Amino acid sequence: MIITVYPIQKKGEKMVDANHKYDVYMKKGKLKFTPNMPDYDKAYKGFKWEDHYKELDWAPGKPLNVAHVAVERHALGPNANKTALIYVGENTEQRLTYKELHLLSNKFANVLKKYGIKKGDRVFLFISRVPAVYVAFLGILKAGAVASTLFGAFGPQAVKDRVGDAEGIMVITNATLKDRVDAVRPEMPALKHVLVVGAKEQMPGTISYEKEMEAASNKFTMEQTQPEDPCFMLYTSGTTGHPKGVIHAHMAILQEYMTSKWVLDLRPEDIYWCTADHGWVTGIAYGILGPLAVGTTILLYEGRFSADAWYSTLQKYKITVWYTAPTAIRMLMKEGKDITKKYDFSTLRSIYSVGEPLNPEAIREGLDMFGLPFHDTWWQTETGAMMITNYPCMDIRFGSMGKPFPGLAAGIIDDNGKELGPNEEGNLALRPGWPAMMRTIWKNKEKYDSYFKNGWYTAGDKAWKDKDGYFWFIGRADDVIKTSGERVGPFEVESALIDHPAVAEAGVIGKPDPVRGEIIKAFITLKKGFAPSDKLKEEIQQFVKKRMAAHAFPREIDFVDSLPKTRSGKIMRRVLKAKELGQPIGDTSTLEND
Ligand code: WT7
Repeated sequence: MIITVYPIQKKGEKMVDANHKYDVYMKKGKLKFTPNMPDYDKAYKGFKWEDHYKELDWAPGKPLNVAHVAVERHALGPNANKTALIYVGENTEQRLTYKELHLLSNKFANVLKKYGIKKGDRVFLFISRVPAVYVAFLGILKAGAVASTLFGAFGPQAVKDRVGDAEGIMVITNATLKDRVDAVRPEMPALKHVLVVGAKEQMPGTISYEKEMEAASNKFTMEQTQPEDPCFMLYTSGTTGHPKGVIHAHMAILQEYMTSKWVLDLRPEDIYWCTADHGWVTGIAYGILGPLAVGTTILLYEGRFSADAWYSTLQKYKITVWYTAPTAIRMLMKEGKDITKKYDFSTLRSIYSVGEPLNPEAIREGLDMFGLPFHDTWWQTETGAMMITNYPCMDIRFGSMGKPFPGLAAGIIDDNGKELGPNEEGNLALRPGWPAMMRTIWKNKEKYDSYFKNGWYTAGDKAWKDKDGYFWFIGRADDVIKTSGERVGPFEVESALIDHPAVAEAGVIGKPDPVRGEIIKAFITLKKGFAPSDKLKEEIQQFVKKRMAAHAFPREIDFVDSLPKTRSGKIMRRVLKAKELGQPIGDTSTLEND
């Protein structure tokens, strides 16, 4: 099986698809349902965000708290006894109705108040996929605090870089992850409380979730937050420096809700599975907030990845809408199509992908495996919600990210901000001001401002647009790495590497990989007295894994005598990457040592 990582269509070429299954699905009356958005062009033309305020039970001038939209209004209405969450753990299953989720999150908001959490305080979740994530996340919002999540694979250093920077007041964690918080606790002076979920006994120096929840009242008057008040914050990586805290406002719920409705096509009767972890923005916007706002039933699957486990989950829980990622799809493809025949996926209605380029082969094979095409969606931590996507009602061009959501304007611009025409490659940009756009970057206005120029928000991606307005991804414009769909900054990995006693200097790049999209590759020079060996390689890998993150370690390491640097001493990752890929090195006039 050949997998190309990037779309293979040529510019302007009409989609010629060998697999006619899609035509059957799309054109011969196989679209068995009427999507929530039946006609893209029509919806785009007349669209005004204001027309949808009332669907959130909100009007300008009124306070807006996402927890009201996501849970309270359902709990107080006809949806009260509808299942909000089906949790599937290793050996357990638990269901929560909207009413139960509302009352539990009220309790949690009371716990937060008891420990002095105030409006605007940053409260972190560093915990595996358990129902307490939903309870705590909504409780934090009810208390008017800012919810922030950390990926469970993070090591102590990664925790410190985020909680320390945000001056987090509380970390909610579990017994296994707690050690990683403890390891760096003295370096996070603002951190007052560590709250542990699911511990058998109360752990010294911590607050017990179970004990506090039992004692807390389930009545709580929600903080009257304003639409522009901060709601959640998420750390994300760029080319340089440590990860930055992207702040989202309560108003983002409008776009999270609308895209859940019109892109994911969610309805209250759906059983919906988003495979993303809540440590990433997809897990928040489409694992928690958007789908709850629609009033749908969310499946929360805690287990690990395996084709059998995933297929059984789709079948057993009668999933109707599924949102996943290209690496997962490629891993399923690797297991072959035959095993899909053992399962019944007939409840599935629409399937989606995000995070990295969705190769046309994945859509083709998806059609064979599930009888449905994956719909690609493009967005970013910073955009807060889906931006350019494929819609059930719109013809997919295999390999294209689709078209901008109604209410949004996207374009391709050159480096001076001039908009380019069809088929011209350039920087993917959007007109700023959409509801879910980040409101600031924590204590880093300069970084925030750097996204905006000449009336555009620049995404950091290279792309092009065809004459019919479909957008096509080319690659990142910067050094950000996407490995298994997870965003990793080379600087973070380099910093972790040079903390190892044997490493003198390190340069880190993303290397194309047929399954993971990219893998992290490091080039290392060693300190005097250390010699390259496989054992040392492995030791360095383990060191980064433990310290930084299990997903952010270099799968490949090359020991080199020197690294290409600019005269000012900056390592030129671009040169490392070109050499690795056997591509022309380009302009090296600023290179130090040639
Ligand atoms: C970057 C943002 C927001 C969901 C998770 C990613 C890449 C995202 C696609 C896509 C090609 C994509 C871009 C983007 N990306 N979606 N459909 N096709 N590339 O959020 O971690 O902030 O990463 O992921 O490079 O800029 P994120």
